[in-house]
Amino acid sequence: MTERKPSLAVGPAELEAFTWPEMFGNDRPVELEIGTGKAAFLLRRARARPDHNFFGIEWASKYYRFAVDRMERWKVSNVRMARIDGGHFMRVLCPRESLAALHIYHPDPWPKRRQQKRRLIQPVFVEAAVQCLRHGGHWAVQTDHAEYFDVIRALLLGHPELYQTPFDDPEFGVEAARLATNYEIKYLREGRRMHQLAVRRR
Ligand SMILES: C[S@@+](CC[C@H](N)C(=O)[O-])C[C@H]1O[C@@H](n2cnc3c(N)ncnc32)[C@H](O)[C@@H]1O
Repeated sequence: MTERKPSLAVGPAELEAFTWPEMFGNDRPVELEIGTGKAAFLLRRARARPDHNFFGIEWASKYYRFAVDRMERWKVSNVRMARIDGGHFMRVLCPRESLAALHIYHPDPWPKRRQQKRRLIQPVFVEAAVQCLRHGGHWAVQTDHAEYFDVIRALLLGHPELYQTPFDDPEFGVEAARLATNYEIKYLREGRRMHQLAVRRR
């Protein structure tokens, strides 16, 4: 096994050809979060599960830097972060059949019709995500946007390799996410309804 990398920030060049055991220095199960924002969920989950590795992806440099600083302050050794497009990562870079879990909370809804092509969760992304999950791997999605949720739900439940599973699975830890993502707290205060879905790969 290679030595653990000293830095939790992973540059795009390091993702061109990598394996999770090389990145983390061990072969524990890997959970991926795309669009961490300030990474409240990722930090909480990583501290609760030191027996898992966590990879957080955030495109916005402001939030990415905030998340990296936060992880450094808390000295979590089982987290790595990258500033990269989550769609590209999933389609091209993520090792196939490697993820124990995928977390996507409050993906940008791009509500206007002409913007919807920018949405993260689209058919090509879903196909790539399924390939990246291990068999039995878990994928949880939460959004306050009803129309985007209907699209996501149809894509995930329509995929022959995915089946629905409880969102609040204590082993998986999504329950712990309920009040933990920054946008969730903000939206619940505003009285918005949450839409949640969890699936597993067969
Ligand atoms: C609405 S925020 C939600 C943040 C966090 N998940 C939460 O619930 O508090 C969406 C986040 O996803 C990030 N994001 C959007 N598209 C992305 C992409 N393609 N790759 C990586 N991050 C992305 C945005 O920069 C933003 O920080």
